[in-house]
Amino acid sequence: MLSAMDVFDTHAHYDDEQFDPDRDEILSGLPQKGVKLALDPGGDIGSSKLAVSLAERYPFLYAAVGIHPGRAESMADGDIDLLAGMTGNPKVRAIGEIGLDYHYEGSPRDVQKRVFRAQLALARDLGLPVIVHDREAHGDCMEIIRSFPGLRGVLHCYSGSAEDAMTYARMGWYLSFTGVVTYKNARKVIEVIKQFPLDRMMIETDAPYLAPVPHRGRRCDSTYLHLVAEKIAEVRGLDPEEIAARTLVTGKEFFSIS
Ligand code: NI
Repeated sequence: MLSAMDVFDTHAHYDDEQFDPDRDEILSGLPQKGVKLALDPGGDIGSSKLAVSLAERYPFLYAAVGIHPGRAESMADGDIDLLAGMTGNPKVRAIGEIGLDYHYEGSPRDVQKRVFRAQLALARDLGLPVIVHDREAHGDCMEIIRSFPGLRGVLHCYSGSAEDAMTYARMGWYLSFTGVVTYKNARKVIEVIKQFPLDRMMIETDAPYLAPVPHRGRRCDSTYLHLVAEKIAEVRGLDPEEIAARTLVTGKEFFSIS
């Protein structure tokens, strides 16, 4: 089912190998399917480079560059300079995705924290916003973010409490929501959506992961994003088109896209 609403998918990994067989076919079809804008965040140096090269090819696609907490140990001397160099490309609009992941702990926690801090400092120095991944690391994540006052950021696929969400809103931060909002066990995130300020919300697929119901378990792409808008609209008692339009405006402002 396609939707006529225009959406901004603020977090979709089109550089992921799951798109190797048909990446160009999918990307070239998105604008006709209501996907006005999309942003591909990098996960390490290689994937950041790929995200930037895709963004150069597709006018509606933007990129962020960064090292994901799961790959924090891969960060080598000089990588911060490589990331800084990539931000010279006009399609790069943020540092991400960066953060902490204590669920998988692909890298030791102290390494994750050091790599996270180094990239927050880079974003601050460059005047760029950040895209943060926080999985089961809510306390440490907020503590580190608080030590960078003035930095603008979004917590992607937000999974924290409603109380923390309101703290982030007061700090001027944003939250973005994925297909997880359509899952049966999504009670906690639904409580967040009920009260979080609409003008600080963005929507995303996190493609190829987290396909919304009824596509759960399949490879996800941005054409499923309207299902996230529909669920948020249902929770807030608004039209899906309004959620799509408002999150599109918020995303454009956040990533400085005119
Ligand atoms: Ni992601």
